[in-house]
Amino acid sequence: MSGAVIVTGGASGIGLETARLLQERGFVPHIADLKREALDEARATLGLPPEQAHALSVTDEAAVEEMVAKVAQAGTLAGVVNCAGIAMDRPAVETSVEDFRRIVDVNLTGTFIVSRAAARLWLARGEGGAIVNVTSVSGMIGNKGRSAYGASKGGQNLLTLILANELGPHGIRVNAVAPGPIDTPLTKAIHTGDVRAQWNARVSLRRYGEPREIASAVAFLLSPDASYVNGHILAVDGGFVTAGLAP
Ligand code: NAI
Repeated sequence: MSGAVIVTGGASGIGLETARLLQERGFVPHIADLKREALDEARATLGLPPEQAHALSVTDEAAVEEMVAKVAQAGTLAGVVNCAGIAMDRPAVETSVEDFRRIVDVNLTGTFIVSRAAARLWLARGEGGAIVNVTSVSGMIGNKGRSAYGASKGGQNLLTLILANELGPHGIRVNAVAPGPIDTPLTKAIHTGDVRAQWNARVSLRRYGEPREIASAVAFLLSPDASYVNGHILAVDGGFVTAGLAP
């Protein structure tokens, strides 16, 4: 496999592991993240040159467009992974409009901004490409405490289907991976012991997933192995969304 792949949120957790796996599979990963220090550390860990790390917010339209243009100048842009995200677990009645807007802005609007920039480039060059959105099972079902996060992720899932439909005729595939609970800095920060116990009781594999288990699904959807997969939301969740009454 070849070509550059931009991984947003690439400085940590699932994004970092995805960049690592893509590198192992022969892609040229470009990591983009808000946190400059974490980005520098991730770049060092992966052994990437400075031009493969981009300090920006996915909500910054001009910065995103500049990054996509720079990456494309250096060679073929094979794909984009929209992994940057922020989360909150709080009842709707205690959620401020400010927090709701902030979460939707990063998770949903950010995905739109990055995807649109890549799609415009591919269309202008007459090239195909692949977009993989890292969404969430909280965008598929009504998990409590996720009014902002779940709505942003549900929007991201639907955006996946719409972009797949609009861009498919141009050879651009758009899919999503919807993770269940994964052990990353994000869940370590917001999942209490009680929350972890609830997830473990409802995931039929009875455990949290590892970032690598999401990265491998993302890598599959980006690769030519998935050349006829478009507009698919792949839950990688240990059986969470399909579980009914527990045995
Ligand atoms: P993480 O917190 O380890 O990594 C997220 C990265 O996104 C961080 O490096 C952060 O700096 C970056 N980021 C945040 N806002 C940004 C912005 N405006 N612009 C650019 N970068 C920004 O989190 P994790 O767990 O690796 O999550 C990655 C994605 O996976 C997120 O979209 C999250 O919603 C999703 N996800 C995670 C699950 C989990 O259990 N960890 C479950 C379901 C979905």
